[in-house]
Amino acid sequence: MKKDKTLSAQETEKQFEFMDKVRKYNREGMRAYIETFGCQQNEADSERLAGMAEYMGYTVTDDPSDADLIVVNTCAVREHAELKALSVTGQFKHIKQNKSGLIIAMCGCMVSQEHRSQSIKNSYPYVDFVFDTRSLHTFPERLYERLVTGKRSFDISGSQEGVIAEGLPVRRASDFKAWLSVMYGCNNFCTYCIVPYVRGRERSRRRENILEEARQLAASGYREITLLGQNVNSYGNDLYDDYDFADLLADICRTDGDFTVRFMTSHPKDATRKLIDTMAENAKIAKQFHLPLQSGSDRILGLMNRKYNRDRYLDLVGYMRLKIPDITITTDIIVGFPGETEEDFEMTLDMLSRVQYDNIFSFIYSKRKGTPAEKMASQVPDDVKKERFERLIELQNGISRRKNEEYIGKTIRVLVEGRSKTDDSKLTGRNEKNRLVHFEGEDSLIGGYADVTVESVQPHALFGRLV
Ligand code: SAH
Ligand code: SF4
Ligand code: F3S
Repeated sequence: MKKDKTLSAQETEKQFEFMDKVRKYNREGMRAYIETFGCQQNEADSERLAGMAEYMGYTVTDDPSDADLIVVNTCAVREHAELKALSVTGQFKHIKQNKSGLIIAMCGCMVSQEHRSQSIKNSYPYVDFVFDTRSLHTFPERLYERLVTGKRSFDISGSQEGVIAEGLPVRRASDFKAWLSVMYGCNNFCTYCIVPYVRGRERSRRRENILEEARQLAASGYREITLLGQNVNSYGNDLYDDYDFADLLADICRTDGDFTVRFMTSHPKDATRKLIDTMAENAKIAKQFHLPLQSGSDRILGLMNRKYNRDRYLDLVGYMRLKIPDITITTDIIVGFPGETEEDFEMTLDMLSRVQYDNIFSFIYSKRKGTPAEKMASQVPDDVKKERFERLIELQNGISRRKNEEYIGKTIRVLVEGRSKTDDSKLTGRNEKNRLVHFEGEDSLIGGYADVTVESVQPHALFGRLV
């Protein structure tokens, strides 16, 4: 075994002791509210925070004005995400004015940057303490210190590389869909991206811990398990000589139970044919692949430090379609990276036409403090970024709609997720390929599978009738 970053049992035990202390310190009936921004990693982290809060005697509430403890789990991926977290935190100030005992904590990617934790300390006097993504497990200790000493704390200088804490309590948001982190951190340093600076170095969980968690999820009836990591394809590199992500997936599929496995995210430089073969061979793996392209221009990909080119990417897509002809492929695109010319952008449009993605997630480039791209000359003007963004969406909407039209008249099995957010008379669910489907039905269907015949489509959703 190589470098194992798992915390010792004693260190984890220490946090359980702090959880006991907080529970004894507090009166009964305390409530905790957790607000989460950002990606699935943050959602998974918030489920651990909620688990720890519950263990400490708090009841988790969805009303911040009712809370004795508020935790804001922040994101830093784009400026907009940071501004949202700051503005929501600002609103909690008013709650605290009427409730002096209220404790407000912040964690997550935004406050894992030194300049942000300092500005919170100086400009948000009602925030009691922050803790960074690399020391999520120290939440009970920080909370206890705050309760007992009354001192505010903003120190994020602990483990910069990060550790792995096993065995923390978890309170899952859903009882049929679960996140399962297989690794943490990122080593890739794409030049636009803040994540490696705020999430520490790549570190894989031991396979036996992951397999045990998968076994428990399947045994408790979870229908869908999504494996998480910034770059799942490098799973195991830091830990094993001869065990990789494809091996892990195959092992998870050997777990008993009627469930589907998804995973995200895959970096094209590390995605292997072996992984695609494993998907083709295992019925439990959803036939869906999220493969972030970011740009269709080899020159921009170089400036982004992505370490692949168009040919390598198209080769992977070709192999996926050869092995799994009906596979759903989705991607992430950034428009307006520094130096992106009209020709570069047209190469991105060209990739959309060639690959024919089922769906894309597109973002306008946002400068991140301390990243190499922040310093690059020729930042693209806002109006140009916006115009390109709109052209990108328009092209993709046509492609997505055509792909969805192929479903009309077909009956598909969907996992029913809940009421539609936009139309309360409808249920919403997803099929194995992650297509959003709306249809009328009873609440009792939520959390199970239903067969739906598709009758009409939009670019981002299918509409149908229960069979
Ligand atoms: N680890 C994942 C993605 C993490 S962030 C991966 O490598 O694919 C999710 C997406 O946000 C990225 O794929 C990228 O498209 C986008 N993104 C990251 N940094 C950004 C920035 N500075 N500006 C705009 N979009 C960004
Ligand atoms: Fe960011 Fe690149 Fe790491 Fe993804 S792989 S988290 S885009 S640095
Ligand atoms: Fe995720 Fe945002 Fe952090 S996208 S990894 S929560 S910067």
